[in-house]
Amino acid sequence: MVAGVGGVSAPGRVLIDRRRIAGRVDAMASEIEREYKSCRDAVLFVPVLDGALLFAADLIRRLSLPLQLAGLAASSYPGAATTSTGQVELGLFRVDVQGRRVLLLDDILDTGQTLATVKEALRQRGALEVRSAVLLRKQRETPPVVEADFVGFEVPDCFVIGYGLDHDGRYRELPDVRVLDQDNMI
Ligand code: XMP
Repeated sequence: MVAGVGGVSAPGRVLIDRRRIAGRVDAMASEIEREYKSCRDAVLFVPVLDGALLFAADLIRRLSLPLQLAGLAASSYPGAATTSTGQVELGLFRVDVQGRRVLLLDDILDTGQTLATVKEALRQRGALEVRSAVLLRKQRETPPVVEADFVGFEVPDCFVIGYGLDHDGRYRELPDVRVLDQDNMI
């Protein structure tokens, strides 16, 4: 543990620091803007909550596009688990997506089950197009079941926290992405 922001200790080692995150989020905003600049209707940005909160907040403030925002809760990591259950539970989502272009935002692409489940749910509700942007993509032996259209960073197959990512509900507020080692797990 090392001292973190505001006197709170931050476990593990820094994998991607806040300056690199800011630079990459800037570049992703430019890529996304280029991709959607010819769309006449507002693109619906759907952050997958809670993990994508910080990424979404930083990304959309860099965009100069007509957009709307509607978060959707999804969970596959109960409590202190560090591997997915494979079952993705979705929260309530009352926004009408019929005929809309949707861009999902997520903190990390791991097995791909979360993005696959959310994409399918929105397509079933009539979305015209569902694409996705993730801050991180885990380099796994088995590739994810779906790929993301925009990727911030490739990361090793380990458990990461910070910048929205949690362990048992903690550490989302940390400004850097860190690797949580065994000693720091609950
Ligand atoms: P899947 O396997 O569905 O996983 O692609 C994506 C979701 O699982 C969570 N996840 C993590 N959360 N550190 C975390 O804090 C991790 O290393 C990690 N890997 C996956 C995350 O909520 C993501 O939306």
